[in-house]
Amino acid sequence: MNQSTGFLRMLSMTAALGLASALLAGPAVAADAAAAVKSGTGPAAVVLVAGATGGTGREVVRQALASGYRVRALVRDEARARPVLGDDIEYAVGNVLEPATLGRALQGVDYVVSALGSNSQKEPENRPERVDYGGVKSLAEAASKAGVKHFVLVSSMGVTQPDHYLNKAFDNILTWKLKGEDALRASGLRYTIVRPGGLRDEPGGKAGIRAMQGDPKGIRAGIPRADVAAVCVNALGRADADRKTFEIVSGVEGERVDWASFFAGFAADGR
Ligand SMILES: NC(=O)c1ccc[n+]([C@@H]2O[C@H](COP(=O)([O-])OP(=O)(O)OC[C@H]3O[C@@H](n4cnc5c(N)ncnc54)[C@H](OP(=O)(O)O)[C@@H]3O)[C@@H](O)[C@H]2O)c1
Repeated sequence: MNQSTGFLRMLSMTAALGLASALLAGPAVAADAAAAVKSGTGPAAVVLVAGATGGTGREVVRQALASGYRVRALVRDEARARPVLGDDIEYAVGNVLEPATLGRALQGVDYVVSALGSNSQKEPENRPERVDYGGVKSLAEAASKAGVKHFVLVSSMGVTQPDHYLNKAFDNILTWKLKGEDALRASGLRYTIVRPGGLRDEPGGKAGIRAMQGDPKGIRAGIPRADVAAVCVNALGRADADRKTFEIVSGVEGERVDWASFFAGFAADGR
């Protein structure tokens, strides 16, 4: 399929899903989630962020804190992470390549957001097979054992396309990410899988979010990491986000999202 047919398919899917009006703007902070947390009578729910020191993970940490959650960062090196993420969160030292380090990190955790990413160019042992598949699988299994209520995974557009150029460039990264998704689906957890287009380091909330399902080919669009984080934080604990997988890129400047219709508009994964 070429780019324009892919785009048309995406538009028609978007309309069919009733997502045309589900667009984001305004502060990229998770207002619905904040209301849910703040209206609770007990202590704030605990969110474990894996990949917290990464570009998207940092935004998840910031927005989850701003939404009233207690945030715990899963980090490989606390001394390196603390100057980046600050003192308002808890730290759990762990490495997804070492599953034995994960149980403790997950104690008392309500929700997990994984913004993990492999970096085999810098660290050859940290390759996609081990992080995007094995690491996600270990984290999902440990989360299931720990009684986590919802797991939100940042995956990627293109994971169902074996011939995608990113597979050739980066050790089959997309194929391993799809296997990571499948491991989460098999874990028995409530889950939401967010598949962004190309990530950008730009402020969030400036444009809407264009959402689609079915991993259409030929989409050459991106999205700020902050807007990906907003989707992740808003998904936490939502029954209408459970068992849902969808792709996102930036939408129209200045449009706002209605989170309820955003999540309700997606079809759930088949069993
Ligand atoms: N780049 C794109 O355009 C694009 C497009 C679509 C989807 N994505 C996906 O979106 C996600 C977020 O991307 P990003 O660029 O924001 O991430 P990133 O900046 O590359 O951060 C990756 C994070 O994963 C952590 N990590 C790596 N290996 C680990 C391990 N073995 N154990 C524990 N933590 C580990 C890193 O920790 P350290 O600080 O310790 O290294 C870091 O916090 C990734 O899954 C990526 O593949 C990216």
